[in-house]
Amino acid sequence: MLKVGLIGIGKMGKYHLNIYDELQNVQMNGMCDASQAVLDEVKTRFRYETFTDFRDLLPKVDAVTVAAPTKYHFDIVKECLEAGKHVLVEKPITTNLEEAQKLFEIAAKKNLVLHIGHVERFNGAVQELRKIADNPYLIESRRVGPFNPNFAKDSIVLDLMIHDIDIIVNMVHADVIEIQASGSKVYSELPDYAAVNIRFDGSTTAQIVVSRVTQKKDRIMSISQKDAFITLDYTSQDINIYRNAQSQHVFGNKELHYRNEYILERLFVYKDNPLKQEIKHFIDCINGTVNRVVTVEHELKSLKIALKIDDMLIKGIGAEEVRI
Ligand SMILES: NC(=O)c1ccc[n+]([C@@H]2O[C@H](COP(=O)([O-])OP(=O)(O)OC[C@H]3O[C@@H](n4cnc5c(N)ncnc54)[C@H](O)[C@@H]3O)[C@@H](O)[C@H]2O)c1
Repeated sequence: MLKVGLIGIGKMGKYHLNIYDELQNVQMNGMCDASQAVLDEVKTRFRYETFTDFRDLLPKVDAVTVAAPTKYHFDIVKECLEAGKHVLVEKPITTNLEEAQKLFEIAAKKNLVLHIGHVERFNGAVQELRKIADNPYLIESRRVGPFNPNFAKDSIVLDLMIHDIDIIVNMVHADVIEIQASGSKVYSELPDYAAVNIRFDGSTTAQIVVSRVTQKKDRIMSISQKDAFITLDYTSQDINIYRNAQSQHVFGNKELHYRNEYILERLFVYKDNPLKQEIKHFIDCINGTVNRVVTVEHELKSLKIALKIDDMLIKGIGAEEVRI
């Protein structure tokens, strides 16, 4: 049975731990956190061996989840790969492209599975969307919510927008040729909200709005394509498809009314825990029963776009022609 371990047991690591604990086809062989206080807390619920240094965990496992803070990802993942372990690292993999490329190179050379924890890919609604999206020309995405000071030092692009970039890149198979970006600080030292337009070679435009300073949480995407308007709610995992829309102005007794009619399809979506699906996919890839859902090339492309947008927002560059 595949032996797994966990490195970093904060907010995200605890979610991974819960899933590994319930999976039948893996053996959880140890959990590591740099903080003894964190280990003492999780030990009250989980009886796995604990380590404060991940190097001591490595001889006991075949694969690890790395959910330590992003600034440590490169060093930890590199050592894990060099020790011959498969790695599922939380997103973002790194905060620069060269490091991400280096990690994928090591994984390829050693024939190891290296996945990034883009959990929204495994959202049931996103999986369905991939089947029905057909040359979309306008993609609108909105990922907003209230302020949490714990994330004030994180980039909203690498923390939030990267999910949307990842989904869009895997739907639109063309180069990005122009980016327009605006955003600003509200409570923190980095932009707290951003509105970004991404123009692809061909006829697709994607508009992404992210904010951590909006009083209502929304996680939605909509797609306009030739014969359909599709709306997706990440939280409820619902998809609606509007087709055959007709609109007309109709004279009533006294007033002119606008009437819009359409056929609405509510799609049946298999709703499971997306993180569970992500971890199962990681294990299936290690066992060789499936191929990775997203190519390494697309992983790097998403990161490259995210880093470009982040840089534009920080430097206040409003628009730039690119080829990514
Ligand atoms: N996929 C998602 O939607 C999602 C959501 C939130 C966070 N994340 C990512 O998950 C990662 C962790 O974020 P978090 O919010 O759980 O952070 P966190 O601060 O809550 O937890 C990080 C944990 O790692 C431990 N740690 C630090 N250095 C370590 C080391 N060298 N070895 C072992 N443990 C170490 C810390 O003690 C802490 O317990 C980040 O990369 C973040 O971007 C992903």
